[in-house]
Amino acid sequence: MEDVRLASDAAEMLQRRSWDAKVISPDVDEGVGRRASFVAGSFTLPAGSRPMLYISAQGLYRAFVNGKRVGNDCLTPGWTCYDNRIAFQTYDISDLAQEGENRIEIWLGDGWFRSPLMWREYAIPNGWGDRIGAIAEIVDGGATVCATGPDWQSGLLPVTKSGIYYGEDYDAGLKPEISGSVEVLETDTALFVAHEAEAVKELDSLKPVGSWTVGDAVIYDFGQNVAGYTRIRVKGAAGAKVYIDFAEVLGPNGEFDNRNYRVARAALSYTLSGDGEECWAPMFTFMGYRYARVTIEGDTELLDIVSVPISSVPDVAGGFECDVAAVNRLVLNTIWSQRGNFIEIPTDCPQRDERLGWTGDAQVFAGTACWLADSERFLRKYLRDVMHDQRDDGGVPHFTPDPTRRPGSKFTGDWAGSTGWGDVITVMPWQLYLHYGREDVLRECFPAMLKWLDYLWSISDGPIIHPHSSWGQKGFTFGDWLQPVGDNRKPRPTIADDCAATLYFAISTDLAAKIARVIGETAEAEKLEANAKVIRDAFAREYFSASGRMAHNDQTSYALAFLYDLVPVEHFEAAKGYFRRVIVDAKHKIGTGFIGTPALLPALSKLGMNDLAEKVFLNRKVPGWLYQVDRGATTIWERWDAIGEDGTIYEPLMNSYNHYAYGAVCQWLFENVAGVQPMEDAPGFDRVRLAPTVLPELGKVTMWHDCRHGRVEASWVLANGRATYRVTLPEGCEGVLPADIYNGVTIDGETALVPPEGLTLSSGTHEIGFDI
Ligand code: BGC
Repeated sequence: MEDVRLASDAAEMLQRRSWDAKVISPDVDEGVGRRASFVAGSFTLPAGSRPMLYISAQGLYRAFVNGKRVGNDCLTPGWTCYDNRIAFQTYDISDLAQEGENRIEIWLGDGWFRSPLMWREYAIPNGWGDRIGAIAEIVDGGATVCATGPDWQSGLLPVTKSGIYYGEDYDAGLKPEISGSVEVLETDTALFVAHEAEAVKELDSLKPVGSWTVGDAVIYDFGQNVAGYTRIRVKGAAGAKVYIDFAEVLGPNGEFDNRNYRVARAALSYTLSGDGEECWAPMFTFMGYRYARVTIEGDTELLDIVSVPISSVPDVAGGFECDVAAVNRLVLNTIWSQRGNFIEIPTDCPQRDERLGWTGDAQVFAGTACWLADSERFLRKYLRDVMHDQRDDGGVPHFTPDPTRRPGSKFTGDWAGSTGWGDVITVMPWQLYLHYGREDVLRECFPAMLKWLDYLWSISDGPIIHPHSSWGQKGFTFGDWLQPVGDNRKPRPTIADDCAATLYFAISTDLAAKIARVIGETAEAEKLEANAKVIRDAFAREYFSASGRMAHNDQTSYALAFLYDLVPVEHFEAAKGYFRRVIVDAKHKIGTGFIGTPALLPALSKLGMNDLAEKVFLNRKVPGWLYQVDRGATTIWERWDAIGEDGTIYEPLMNSYNHYAYGAVCQWLFENVAGVQPMEDAPGFDRVRLAPTVLPELGKVTMWHDCRHGRVEASWVLANGRATYRVTLPEGCEGVLPADIYNGVTIDGETALVPPEGLTLSSGTHEIGFDI
């Protein structure tokens, strides 16, 4: 049985296999950015075979058996730190293969492996090597019937150029023909591990909602910003060409504006074969866009164009609705930003010359990600990359897979170690534990957490962190990146960088201490708890005046300090007052950036300052969450002020309309507003705390979420000074209603007394009433 050849590495939970096949590279390959190539082999099968294909590549591959595409996964084998591991996929090819002679072709593209990554003049080509290659093995009834090796052939493809940022050019007049042989590469097959997450899939395609002509081009509006590509159907003369470029937004006068792509060409070109109706979509690239601009050269007719979103998490696992349409759209925008940025790794954005696995963005979004999609395997795969790229001194990379560590990088300094970013190594495993209830993720990441905390000690000064303000320097921090107050342009620092850095030091130390307790590392737990106290005490001395005002009197400092219990008791009430004043003085506008924003509303809710939370959340002016929705956003913007009130585009070269970070507010909607919170002493939704925050302006609220036990639903409505909160918990999930929060509590119509430890509700539906 084939399974004998699969071995699981228990510590890493990776599945490897022993290969008869070798990695082979087409000898016709012309190198990065040139015409793509393929390898081909043949095999024979007896009647009644059930052949399985094991396949992977250096670069991207698409396989065909007897001319038919294998599977429907996109951008395989996916993206990992290829120097550490490369995914392989497994396909049952019984339906494509036949008795007797068969042929397999593996088309190869540059992909993340060797197309240039990172911005402008710093672009790094050949990041993981300059040789693309394929490995494949077909196994039937336990015997290898086909394996890539020196007897394979190669040839050039109709893909005349492709790249992740570049897009793809395809000349259908060029047929894939055998013209060369292959070279066996030295690649160690132990690098190949079974894909650790689901492969990227196409979502339902979107038809244009509008189109108009500008000069010789037609612009199509698909009504939704996505990551993906277009699929076209054309008919025309051989040699005629369709060129498509993309944009996320239109300028103030309706002009097509994709300056924010920077050097990412992000375009497609298709040259017709002239052979009847032709249908085409690219295979080795994707772009982030809402609008497609089609220019036709020569005699051809565009019969159809659709937008094809792609994602590693195509299925939605949670929803939230209320009476304010803009809020519902904000949630939908977050879902779309997650889809578009969960393509193999969690990225900052899918459009410009970055699309990198920035750790800070992923850190703040991890909780929301788990509410909106089943993100467990996807994020665990990413955490393995984070750990692989962690530096010897414990610095966690700014992004992973990290091209700056690859040969040919022009970046100087070390792109690692920013607080708020590196803390992904504590925060993300913890969120995964809360949502999915598995301890092994904590165990797997714990050593890396300790290294990260040692690193933080090393850059601190007893233990306040005074971050370095230059990129690449040890101790540099992005601070509260893109804070809408003060100087939010590069280079910062944003205000209160030192405070936020030290706050994160405390947050990560606390989390690591809790995690140590969960996994039974008692001695480490005690050490970490003691360290946490040292940081807390120093924080109190450094950042609070005698009257309880914070040294940096800003929203981010108060929000993080309150949310993570760093406000000393003696200053609690006074600090609350200052926090309130800061927000009122800002006319309820947001003053927070990447790391303050996710904490702002949860902190206000925790303090019972719901009047403020409601005003800040529903504020429709800039900066505020709903401002972008009112301006027609269909995904979350990178900057609060990405488009001005008059339609002008702010900083066109440093702007993205699809950055999920600020969508992290959804976690607050689920956990605080709808009031369903995963509990750390019974994670994985074995128990949830039920504590809704009633915000009258939302009218009524409903949420659902598919957890590992099944569907959780919650809703509240208000009438006559009372709230009716209805929850449905699946079998295996209990609810806990906390004491001392609500008055006049009834459960299913009966008056209920909530004991100090809270009232446990069994699975099933319950109707809870309380006064508001
Ligand atoms: C990225 C981010 C990232 C940031 C670091 C940006 O260019 O798009 O989202 O976290 O740099 O500050």
